[in-house]
Order: sequence, then C-alpha cells, then structure tokens
Amino acid sequence: MRTLIEPFRIKTVEPIRVTSPAERARALRTAGHNVFLLRADDVVIDLLTDSGTGAMSSAQWAAMMNADESYAGSRSFYRFEKAVKDLTGFEWVIPTHQGRAAERILFQVLCKTGDVVPNNTHFDTTRANIEFQGATALDLPCVESRDLGSDFPFKGNMDVAGLRRALHEIAPTRIPLVMMTITNNSAGGQPVSLANLKEVAAVCREYGRPFYLDACRFAENTWLIKEREPGQHDRTPREIAREIFSLADGCTFSAKKDGLSNIGGFLGSRDADVARREKDLLILTEGFPTYGGMAARDMEAIAVGLTEVMEEDYLAYRANCLRTLVDQLAAIGVPVVRPAGGHAVYLDAARFAPHLSPVELPGISLTAELYVCSGVRAVELGTAMFGRHDLATGAEQPAPRELVRLALPRRVYTQSHMEYVVEAIATVWERRNELRPFRIVEQPPFLRHFSARYEPGIPLAPLVIN
Ligand code: F0G
Repeated sequence: MRTLIEPFRIKTVEPIRVTSPAERARALRTAGHNVFLLRADDVVIDLLTDSGTGAMSSAQWAAMMNADESYAGSRSFYRFEKAVKDLTGFEWVIPTHQGRAAERILFQVLCKTGDVVPNNTHFDTTRANIEFQGATALDLPCVESRDLGSDFPFKGNMDVAGLRRALHEIAPTRIPLVMMTITNNSAGGQPVSLANLKEVAAVCREYGRPFYLDACRFAENTWLIKEREPGQHDRTPREIAREIFSLADGCTFSAKKDGLSNIGGFLGSRDADVARREKDLLILTEGFPTYGGMAARDMEAIAVGLTEVMEEDYLAYRANCLRTLVDQLAAIGVPVVRPAGGHAVYLDAARFAPHLSPVELPGISLTAELYVCSGVRAVELGTAMFGRHDLATGAEQPAPRELVRLALPRRVYTQSHMEYVVEAIATVWERRNELRPFRIVEQPPFLRHFSARYEPGIPLAPLVIN
C-alpha cells in the first residue's frame, strides 16, 4: 500500500472549537497581535510548539497509574533510570523537570566567566543558561545550512573546521565542553549526520574536551540518518541511537519532545564527579535525585515513551507527515526550508513577503494573517524573536533570517488537519502582497517575543509579484 497511515487509533478525543475569522481577528487584537498571548481555546490547530504537546499512548497512561510516588527510592525512578541507561549507556542519570533545568545545572557545574561553549546551533534556553554563567555561546553551523532551499540532507551539521579553529584560537581550557543539538532546532529542525557526530567527537577527544548532546529530538535525528545517510538504511533506529549516545560524554534532555511526554527531562553523564556536583545542585532547586522535580508518574510516562519513540512505524509516519507538508507547499511555490526537518516546517517569511523589510516584521505579519485566516497558530523566528533592540537609540538590528515555524505535536493531528494547514498557507500565499507591515509597540528588556505587543502599520503600495 502506498498510503502511510497514522499507526494508532484514537481512544480519547479532545474537541476543537472552530472559530470564525472575525472572532480570531478580535482575539488577535486583544493579544496585541502576539500569538503567545492568545488563549489556546481560540486556536483551531496549534503548531506553536512540539514541546510537551504530544498525545500519550494507552501504555503510558497505564504505567502512570502504576507509579510509585515515594519521595526517595521510588520504583518509578528505577524504571525510568533503566529505560534511559538501556538507550543511552550513560552511567549516571539525573532526572530534571524539563530540558532547561538540566541545562542550568550542567552549565553551572562546568562553565565559568570567560568560557566559550561551541554548538552546531544553540537553542535559546541553552544560550541563555550559558550566558547566565558569564560564558559565551558560540554557534558553528555548517556552511550548507545557509542555503535554505538546497536539498543537502544534513544541514544540522557542525562546521568541523570552524570547531578546530575555535579550539586553536581559544585556549582549550576555556572551552569546558562542546555541544551538538540533535536535531538542530534553531537551524530549521535539520538533522546531524552520524559522520559529522563522529568527526566532532574525534576532535573533542583530540583536544581532551568533553562532548555533550542536547538530545531532545534524538529519535527524529536517528530516523533521518537511517533514511538519508549511506550505509545506515539497514540498521534499527535503536542501534543508530545507541551509537550516537556512545560518542558522547553526557547529555541534556527534554522529555517533552522525543520522550513522548508532557513534562520532564534528565542529565546523562559518564563522569562520577560531574554527576555528584550535578546532584548537589539538583537537590537545591529541583528535588531529591530519585525524582528531580517530576512526579513519579511523569518518570513512568517517559520510560514508556523512550521505547515507543524508537518504533519504526511511528518514526516513518512522523517523517512522512513532515515530508508531505514540505512537498505540498513547495509544489505551489511557497518558500519553505528544504529538505523537511524532523519536527517542524519552516516558512521563509523574507521571500514570502519581499515587500516587507526585516524591521517591518514579515514573520509576525505572516503569523498574524495565517491565524486570522485559519486559526492555525505558528510562531515567528525572525527579527521579533532574535533581533536586537538598542534601548539607548531605539535602533533595531534585524535577525539573520525571517522564518515562521509550524511545529507538529506528536500523535495529535491527523492527515486531514495537515490538509487544512496546507490550504491555510496556500490561501495566505495567494494574498501575500497584502501582508501588512508590523511594528513593536511594547516590549520587555529580554526574551521580548513572549510578551511584546505589535501593531499593523499602513500597507505599502502592493507589490506586483509574478
Ligand atoms: N533544547 C532544544 C533543542 C529545544 O528545542 C528545547 C525546547 C530545549 C532544549 C529546552 O527544553 O523546553 O524542556 O526546557 N524547545 C521548545 C521549542 C520550547 O518550542 O522548540 P525545555
């Protein structure tokens, strides 16, 4: 059969409230045209994030009922620890309530002022936690990642020559660890090849630097290695995943993605001393080392989730959803980041609305129009999120790219929901020359995209687009 079906059937349903464009226009105005400030009940299809928004399986719910909520030594912790160890091979497993808690603890243990942490591309919370320690977060994406439309299969890779240069120019002692984010969320959700991971691990060994993974989408990365990397096709996702983890000295993990759970995370390590210092910090703010800020039922859900996420039917279906979306959008000419990544579709708002300059916030404009037209909630990854605002002069430094991300929650939406999403984007694409400029009217001093308010400006003369 050619049709790839959702490899699950639905036991519990959650109604979607279908709203009208007039209602949505009102809701968006109230939210200052910022989709983060909408009530989720006013959203028809929510593609704001794939983090913590997945549906759990009946096996996960059943395991949750069996959880042991003991403060210390809970049997659910040992189940969770075994599932993580079987998958990753890390000797030390420290639970945390989500990924950024693991990041804060790791960087507090390993980094000090003046240090530099290279990564293929840091996710925002990773960067913020490094900077909070007075260290610098250095992005080293591969050169192929610059061409958004090319079909290079592993645009998530690290620039290995750049890493060598950094290690050469900066005293290695100032580089307390090297990280790789798999998949590379901030660079279009693109995968990293096994070959690139091996090369980076080898450079780290050569310079005696610990190599860490930000592994929250490891399963999607694994599947794309199996599909795209020569020589990997006949291996199981679990074999590839185990090899990836075997290259690393440790990891941070947000279970809200490929843990197939709504909350949770962990730190993995092979170094007893690092693990001891991490546990000391854990107790200070997260909790005792056999729950680390989670309920025991959350640890049960993750233990099952880490097994389910390695199932081939699931991973093939997930990759197919993304690929179909990207292919259908590309077929009607919509500028979309290619090839399909592991968890989200990224529209190139700069090419979608070339009549808007970066400071006219084309990504905010596209996100707003898409929401009003269809109720689909996407998110801007452009100047509103990554641009810099000079408080003294009021000047705006645009971001390098103007992207809009539509992230797919896991096991939540069906193929007809995806068809609706394609139709919504196609409708806005047909009216693209009417997309209005936006400006920021209110913003906090940092992480402004979460709470900024925007106003549409006067439309420019419509541009003729062929
Ligand atoms: N690392 C990566 C690559 C991420 O994408 C995220 C979260 C984190 C770390 C932090 O994990 O949310 O559990 O604290 N990404 C979400 C997103 C928020 O929408 O991409 P967390």
